[in-house]
Amino acid sequence: MNQDELKKAAAQAALDHLPDDAVIGVGTGSTVNFFIDALAARKHRIAGAVSSSEASTARLKAAGIQVFDLNSVNDLPVYVDGADEITAGLAMIKGGGGALTREKIVAAVARKFVCIADEKKQVALLGKFPLPLEVIPMARSYVAREVVRLGGQPILREGFTTDNGNIILDIHNLQILDPVEMETRLSALTGVVMCGLFARRPADVLILATTSGIRTST
Ligand code: A5P
Repeated sequence: MNQDELKKAAAQAALDHLPDDAVIGVGTGSTVNFFIDALAARKHRIAGAVSSSEASTARLKAAGIQVFDLNSVNDLPVYVDGADEITAGLAMIKGGGGALTREKIVAAVARKFVCIADEKKQVALLGKFPLPLEVIPMARSYVAREVVRLGGQPILREGFTTDNGNIILDIHNLQILDPVEMETRLSALTGVVMCGLFARRPADVLILATTSGIRTST
């Protein structure tokens, strides 16, 4: 199986975690695109979706799935999203697609976070994948200097603006020995809108597609 086939298998397996007649939280990225395609085939069994990006909203609508504003939804039983890296403890780096802020908001509301990933995403230590930070544009230099003080090398994602009108700094070579502590420190920097570490609210379920089959962990 190639990586796309693994992503598709993980996305398909996530359908077993969806309650009927509920609004489903939908993440962003290439793995989630496979999930949206799979969801389209059973759209009569869900009440609709809440989306974490303009890109996912467009794909959901094109599939005929109703997209609700998060503020109009009282209960979100499950959120399905991918990850750029995930540990055995289900802490993640997310935001490779730049949608980390809305992803973290929807994840905060959801009762259950189901992460769908191919085996390449599983790591012992987070940080090889550059950690995205969504930053208010005028705070770019200040936040970059603070990140250097924490031991990372911030690189501006050139030519990219988030759905919220902000910039992304990708932090390279950051030692993330304690993901919860690092998330807390980076999130506290003035001008940081959101940090791509998802450790204080990790996934609840990981559906990992491997060449020897689906492995589910909690
Ligand atoms: C989007 O901002 C990200 O958080 C994605 O969920 C993550 O990058 C995984 O994307 P892929 O499924 O495309 O690898």
